[in-house]
Amino acid sequence: MRITTPENDISQILFTEKQIAARVEALGMELAAEYKDKKPVMVCVLKGASFFYIDLCRQMQCNIDMDFISVSSYGAGSKSSGVVKLIKDLDTDITGRHVVLVEDIIDSGLTLSYLKDFFGARKPASIRTISFLDKVDRHPADLKTDYCGFDIPDEFVVGYGLDYANYYRNLPYIGILKPEVYAD
Ligand code: IMP
Ligand code: MG
Repeated sequence: MRITTPENDISQILFTEKQIAARVEALGMELAAEYKDKKPVMVCVLKGASFFYIDLCRQMQCNIDMDFISVSSYGAGSKSSGVVKLIKDLDTDITGRHVVLVEDIIDSGLTLSYLKDFFGARKPASIRTISFLDKVDRHPADLKTDYCGFDIPDEFVVGYGLDYANYYRNLPYIGILKPEVYAD
């Protein structure tokens, strides 16, 4: 691991702070229109979705319930371990409720399909998914989320909540991490 400073470790900025804000505002308005009278439970998948989740919820001009779960699928590396572990469950009883799962990024789609099944078993009125980013070439088309911020190429990205080994989450933009940073 060769983490130096963000400026040195990022090869390209994919989305600026301004572009992100505009997209999140549009998504928030779309969700608010859809869920206006449904009092949805907005579920943040910690930690990666945290910035997106807060900004998104702030843009939703309707009644929402906020709750947080924590899962781990990556450990400290840049490749999926193939194992999803639930670290923190919901506090809210979602039976009969409209649930929106808020994810940071879809890569293999493993985390998303696990969470949909896991929370779907609690008999919510509906369950939909939204991801800030989607690596569309990395998973079968049927694993797509219901809503998405941006489609991106198969690159390892950080910032706006997304990390490498828990670093870079606080960058205000989405940037491609130089491969030498995570090379052995
Ligand atoms: P999946 O289960 O393979 O879809 O992986 C989803 C999880 O892997 C996300 O919630 C992220 O935490 C992490 N992840 C996947 N790709 C990236 C990336 O490019 N940057 C940072 N984290 C990523
Ligand atoms: Mg992560």
